[in-house]
Amino acid sequence: MTKPRLIVTRRWPEEVEAALSERFDVVLNTEDVAFTPDQLKSALAECDGLLPTVTDKLGADILTGGHRAKIIGNYGVGFNHIDVEAAKAAGLVVTNTPDVLTDATADIALTLLLNVARRTYEGEQMLRAGEWTGWRPTQLMGVSPQGKTLGIIGMGRIGKAMAKRCFHALDMKVVFYDAFPVADAGVPATQLATVEEVLAASDFVSLHCPGGGANIHLINAERLKLMKPSAILVNSARGDIIDEAALVEALAAGTIAGAGLDVFEREPKVTEALAAMPNVCLLPHLGSATRETRVAMGMRVVENVTAFFEGREPRDRVA
Ligand code: DGY
Repeated sequence: MTKPRLIVTRRWPEEVEAALSERFDVVLNTEDVAFTPDQLKSALAECDGLLPTVTDKLGADILTGGHRAKIIGNYGVGFNHIDVEAAKAAGLVVTNTPDVLTDATADIALTLLLNVARRTYEGEQMLRAGEWTGWRPTQLMGVSPQGKTLGIIGMGRIGKAMAKRCFHALDMKVVFYDAFPVADAGVPATQLATVEEVLAASDFVSLHCPGGGANIHLINAERLKLMKPSAILVNSARGDIIDEAALVEALAAGTIAGAGLDVFEREPKVTEALAAMPNVCLLPHLGSATRETRVAMGMRVVENVTAFFEGREPRDRVA
């Protein structure tokens, strides 16, 4: 029996590529260069399943229908780079990889929160530049998170994991906004009725909602003005949730005190002004980047596509 043909758009950890190759006829991207839109279109025409990542924009212009491919097995939990309605209309099943990256992503959100609060990246840059002249009482004073309020926007798996870390490890109070009632936040936490209330009440705001759709520019100039001038904004979710130009203005004007960002509106481009700001910690979309997590994400894709081609319902089907 011929094996289903899968095209993988980026390099994956080798044990995952090996697991895929055992079960399927796999085309690997050994050069690890992102596909162009034309390459994505051709791939859909030439394979039974496409295995993309966040860098592959699969819009309605690509998902036009009439493809040989029957499934998109996304390597990642977020799938706002895939036009799900167009995929459905084109007869494609879409799966993602939830759960396995929850802790790793919450760890990066916590890392950003602490880095900005404690100005660690500023200290490291100073030290590496040979500019450290020795300990002094007023050098690089940051702010203590203990006893402060963390506001979470989007109390799903990763939001809850962030709340757990901040409540237990940092003695923070937790308030949050979610579009749906959340019966159990995992730690004592108050659900507020609006994003605005969370922004106004919080010393640290961490974003954990999906990107795309109604969440594009959820954090805009008006909402940034509601935050405390001492507040720090953390984004480990999706770049398009924040209006990056408005954020630059808010940081420059002192509307808020700082930001920690792992994701950007136009990745891999980062608004130049951000890189020049001392009160901003910038990471290159590292949320899920641990070896254990990246292997687990890949194995979850293997599980999903295996189920699909064996005629079973993939456990992580989103469309
Ligand atoms: C995810 O899984 O959504 C990560 O951001 C990588 O795409």
